[in-house]
Amino acid sequence: MNLLIYNEYPGKSRKAGKDVFDFCIFRTNTLSYFLLVRLSRRPNAGRRTDNKGGVLVQNARHIVVLTGSGISAESGIPTFRGKDGLWRQYRAEQLATPAAFDRDPRLVWEWYDWRRGIIGAKQPNPGHNVLAGWEKRRASFSIITQNIDGFHQKAGSENVIELHGNIWKVRCTEEGTVFDNNEIPIGNLPPHCPDCGALLRPHVVWFGESLEMGVLSDAFRLSGECDLMFVIGTSALVQPAASLPLAAREAGSVLVEINPDTTPLSPAVDFSFRGASGEILPRIETALKVSG
Ligand code: APR
Repeated sequence: MNLLIYNEYPGKSRKAGKDVFDFCIFRTNTLSYFLLVRLSRRPNAGRRTDNKGGVLVQNARHIVVLTGSGISAESGIPTFRGKDGLWRQYRAEQLATPAAFDRDPRLVWEWYDWRRGIIGAKQPNPGHNVLAGWEKRRASFSIITQNIDGFHQKAGSENVIELHGNIWKVRCTEEGTVFDNNEIPIGNLPPHCPDCGALLRPHVVWFGESLEMGVLSDAFRLSGECDLMFVIGTSALVQPAASLPLAAREAGSVLVEINPDTTPLSPAVDFSFRGASGEILPRIETALKVSG
């Protein structure tokens, strides 16, 4: 059961944590008999949290959603720092840095080709689909994603800012030309530019590289203008993405986190849904529809 956990919500103080135990101690005649009533599992607690989520969405004028790899986890795409995360199996500095590519472009491409194979065989999940539906029904709704899998667009979302690039795009290392490439597997590794013959690289942002200025300024502008920001499936450890929710909060936006685990951002959000986004977003959607 996913609980909406109030963090610093005005006038309300609740203990964070998975279960809120209300202990009712009934002292009967016999001292030995203590009755522990776990009021936390009140029958409608989950429904109330979903309703709250629905009301937030309904009342918001400008919604921004920041997503990380966690939103694609239920599609079968590994996260980076989770239990079987990519960075537990592979060393980022060997595969996701400009130096690694200079050293061994074939190795880097083998790894991205492998990831494209995994992503190409999977589909967006209900979490992606709900967000695509909200975009269609709302005047102002944008997604800022750290993900390179393209699943938001595959689910039908159009207002998507890709902070870290897209694994289905390649870029000429000489001229900087960007090409769409959906080949699985990619033919000869490493691939070369069809125009000038130079090496192609994945059109993604590697560690130590800057994000595209236009992309970043759009992301901070939208974060500064929204009145409701969902932060879904990110460990909030990687900058500058992790600063976007703080920019939104600074501008007075309500922050909602959806994540099975707490993150460094959790103390700063207004509401936390602890659980999987592929389950929680459809439940908020149901509450939204019920509240009409
Ligand atoms: N629903 C919601 N959140 C989930 C789910 C799920 N089903 N499963 C896992 N999560 C959460 C995890 O608890 C974790 O907090 O998703 C988060 C994933 O965190 P990371 O693996 O660190 O991924 P992310 O935050 O997207 O990484 C940021 O780091 O490696 C770089 O460029 C890469 O874009 C990436 C960036």
